[in-house]
Amino acid sequence: MALPTKKASFFPFLLLLLLVTISIILVTPSNSATDTFVFGGCSQLKFISGSPYEYNVNSILTSLVNSAMFTSYNNFTISASQDTVYGLFQCRGDLENGDCGRCVAKAVSQLGTLCLDSTGGGLQLEGCFVKYDNATFLGVEDKSVVVKRCGPLISTDSDALARRDTVLDFLGASDGTYKPFRVAESGDLRGVAQCVGDLSPTECQDCLSEAIGRLKTDCGASKWGDMYLAKCYARYSQGGDHSHGGDDTDNDDDEIAKTLAILIGLIAGIALIIVFVSALSKACEKDSKGG
Ligand SMILES: *[C@@H]1O[C@H](CO)[C@@H](O)[C@H](O)[C@H]1NC(C)=O
Ligand SMILES: *[C@@H]1O[C@H](CO)[C@@H](O)[C@H](O)[C@H]1NC(C)=O
Repeated sequence: MALPTKKASFFPFLLLLLLVTISIILVTPSNSATDTFVFGGCSQLKFISGSPYEYNVNSILTSLVNSAMFTSYNNFTISASQDTVYGLFQCRGDLENGDCGRCVAKAVSQLGTLCLDSTGGGLQLEGCFVKYDNATFLGVEDKSVVVKRCGPLISTDSDALARRDTVLDFLGASDGTYKPFRVAESGDLRGVAQCVGDLSPTECQDCLSEAIGRLKTDCGASKWGDMYLAKCYARYSQGGDHSHGGDDTDNDDDEIAKTLAILIGLIAGIALIIVFVSALSKACEKDSKGG
């Protein structure tokens, strides 16, 4: 008689374990604000699969992911006679460590698919930037334009344009202190700027001045603009409008995932209660038998 009751309480426990696991998997990766893809690129050169270089690339990428749980910028070098690899990551300055870690993990996994067997690669998500290569790029300022995006024109309202310029000027202003992450706001207008942490304070300032100057000239009177240079970026947007190039479906997916996760969490909660009650009744049974 003891056997069937044992089976019956074991099954919901397994189910619960499965459901909790699924809901954790579903909830964790859905952060559209930081995970949105901005750009990615790979070097043409390929390494030989199974080579020491591949091992070093994997080590670097693993180090980046681990480090991003604790800090918003770090660089790594794995030195070997011919197989040296350099790598770095930079999270947006307002991310919590956990979000930074998740963003870098996502970027590294995308980089693995995008730049399969490439000797170098770089990837920018909204929340973080990751790069590795066998040529030194650490500490080298690079102001080449990687991504330029401009929104539709602001209404012919010259006030709006003046306000935009004020925000950008504030973003680019230097008080002599090192500010790799900057935010400037005026009304519904918001500007954000970020340097990669390997730049010196003066290089960072120089890079941001370039990005901001280009935003003004290249995006003219656009409602929003993104200027990503190789080692820094500046962006602005009005009224939350943004350049979410075709990620609407991502958001829908996120919504579905969230709803599913809540549903599964609910089922898991009910399963938990069932397990608890059945364990309780079993304990009561034993108690009454013992007494
Ligand atoms: C990087 O790796 C490629 C392919 O192995 C090689 O041809 C190139 O010379 C390397 N560059 C440096 C700077 O080591
Ligand atoms: C790279 O990291 C080392 C140790 O963490 C640090 O001392 C060095 O300044 C960093 N280099 C750059 C270019 O950021």
